[in-house]
Amino acid sequence: MKNEGNNIFSVFDEIIPRKEKEEKLNQRSKVVWMTGLSGSGKTTIAKIIERKLQEKGFLSQILDGDNIRAGINSNLGFSEEDRKENIRRIAEVSKLFLNCGIITINCFVSPTIEIRELAKVIVGEEDFLEVFIDTPLEECEKRDTKGLYKKARKGLISDFTGISSPFENPVNPFIKINTIGITAEESAEQVLKRLLPIIQY
Ligand code: ADX
Repeated sequence: MKNEGNNIFSVFDEIIPRKEKEEKLNQRSKVVWMTGLSGSGKTTIAKIIERKLQEKGFLSQILDGDNIRAGINSNLGFSEEDRKENIRRIAEVSKLFLNCGIITINCFVSPTIEIRELAKVIVGEEDFLEVFIDTPLEECEKRDTKGLYKKARKGLISDFTGISSPFENPVNPFIKINTIGITAEESAEQVLKRLLPIIQY
């Protein structure tokens, strides 16, 4: 279709479609949405998944709370409203990657059913793969890799997920990983086993 004047819709009509980009990359794009408490292992597992995907010839991008919040979402905090806006923007960014044929691996606490539902609606249900990194609070707190739980217990951080702000478990995730007693490598393998048949072109 020809671009008639300033009609923005005709611009979208002329953008190379997702399918052609997926074909070029020889993969099907998806959004792998990892949810779980701070310190549950989301990013550690995502990094292993990304490395393995790369070795197998897939193109992916990790989006993670700590780097996104240092960049495009640097104006947001941890109130319910700010978390929603955080996730809304991330879901929109993921959608751009999706339309470019690229797999994103998103690592966000995304603590409530409502917030993850919002992300799912933006991304599109068929492309949204919810991965629940189910590490219990006691274990995350014991690890306390960033020292944040200690601070939250002392009242130095407000609205801290699991301590002074809620986390709601996913009801029917694509996959749930119980990280207790297994390595991050093994957790990543469990995700890959389910993911690979879906992203193969
Ligand atoms: S989300 O709730 O909006 O999805 P996001 O994943 O972006 O959170 O950021 C979580 C990360 O921010 C945590 O891993 C932790 O390092 C840091 N953080 C700082 N303050 C808080 C807080 N109040 N609650 C949760 N995480 C926090």
